[in-house]
Amino acid sequence: MSLKGFFLLLSIGAFTAYYVYQPIPDEIEEKWKLMLTDCFFRTLSHLADFSELLGIKDYMGVMMFITFAERVVPVSDEHVHVTEGLFDGVEVLVYQPKLQGGDAELRRAVIYLHGGGWCLGSSRMGPYDFLARQMVIDLNSVVVSVEYRLAPEHHFPVPYEDVYRVVKYFLQRDVLAQYAVDPGRIAVSGDSAGGNLAAAVSQQLQQDPEQEVQLKVQALLYPVMQALDLNTPSYQQNQNMPILPRTLMVRFWSEYLTSDKNFFRAMMANTHNTPESAALLKFVNWSAFLPESYWGKYNYSAPSVVLKETESGSDGPLRSIADPRASPLLVPDADLLSLPKAYVLTCEYDVLRDDGIMYAERLRHAGVQVTHKHYASGFHGALMFTLWPTDFMIARTMTENLIKWLQHNL
Ligand SMILES: *[C@@H]1O[C@H](CO)[C@@H](O)[C@H](O)[C@H]1NC(C)=O
Ligand SMILES: *[C@@H]1O[C@H](CO)[C@@H](O)[C@H](O)[C@H]1NC(C)=O
Repeated sequence: MSLKGFFLLLSIGAFTAYYVYQPIPDEIEEKWKLMLTDCFFRTLSHLADFSELLGIKDYMGVMMFITFAERVVPVSDEHVHVTEGLFDGVEVLVYQPKLQGGDAELRRAVIYLHGGGWCLGSSRMGPYDFLARQMVIDLNSVVVSVEYRLAPEHHFPVPYEDVYRVVKYFLQRDVLAQYAVDPGRIAVSGDSAGGNLAAAVSQQLQQDPEQEVQLKVQALLYPVMQALDLNTPSYQQNQNMPILPRTLMVRFWSEYLTSDKNFFRAMMANTHNTPESAALLKFVNWSAFLPESYWGKYNYSAPSVVLKETESGSDGPLRSIADPRASPLLVPDADLLSLPKAYVLTCEYDVLRDDGIMYAERLRHAGVQVTHKHYASGFHGALMFTLWPTDFMIARTMTENLIKWLQHNL
């Protein structure tokens, strides 16, 4: 080998080692597997940035590769009957238990909302298909997995409204009867951005005076709950954690609300609040709602109010950040107290940790029954890693615990 070749190899090796090696806390199990998985995600993210810069394809368009790569064809098997359909014009997958010889009993139902930052993901991804089947078998339930439309093509409130339409449609008595579902045993659940949609839908549904059938429980799995303070202790502590670094979460938020890049930059600097949203900062004040054991070394300072209503060309995103259908943490206690019983899953190594903890605390304070399950060695997105080759033990544990809770509470 020539000397030049040797040095080239050496620098590639050094670059790779530097690149793959991201310090990951020792508490996290299967550290090396996570490091490699994360390396894949970061490489894709860099490619996506590069592609957008060159004007080949936009960032989220490239990131959708993950969604396509994990796509499966949801087929019926010996236990589960799967159908594709439209509920009030929105695509859904419906998973039903196969009838066991004249079984006439009414069943539970789970409406499931996938994660992916409102921009990525699909009900047709392997891990969601796996989770839906688990729920059908272990809970003898019908699962409605919602294929809501995604940002940036469809900004807020489209993804939210798609989900709301599906839920309203499904909760009609004649539709429930058609699926042999007990109207008193229906859950809504979702992970990450899906948890955000699940929380928002639960709130709006109970405020709908015409709504007859209500949800029994909500299961929010590392949910996104607010866009006003993107510097909570967990956002700071985990800003470079695998799977969901702070930049990516901020990007998801900004793309959900607008295509205006100035808004992304303002959110990165946590200077995106308006006088209108600043009036709601009291609902996301972590020095008031986050137990001190989670404060770490961080001191509270309220996000500054810099943007004026007129500063951005369209006032859309500025009004949306104050909208509880986008940020369910922003409602007063009076709107929380009659919400369905809740399961809130949070992970220590997750920028969204404090979003979930604050919501769990506020719900409990308002008098709602809450089970808060915190994973001290958990990382964001873990529930997606149930299948080979990116299967993590913690994903199985989380799934089992969620299903156990649903068995007892739904
Ligand atoms: C946040 O809470 C702390 C302690 O309860 C309080 O001193 C502070 O004024 C609050 N700030 C905002 C912006 O709500
Ligand atoms: C937080 O406040 C304490 C006491 O005022 C100070 O000693 C500490 O340096 C501050 N920490 C940070 C990260 O700013």
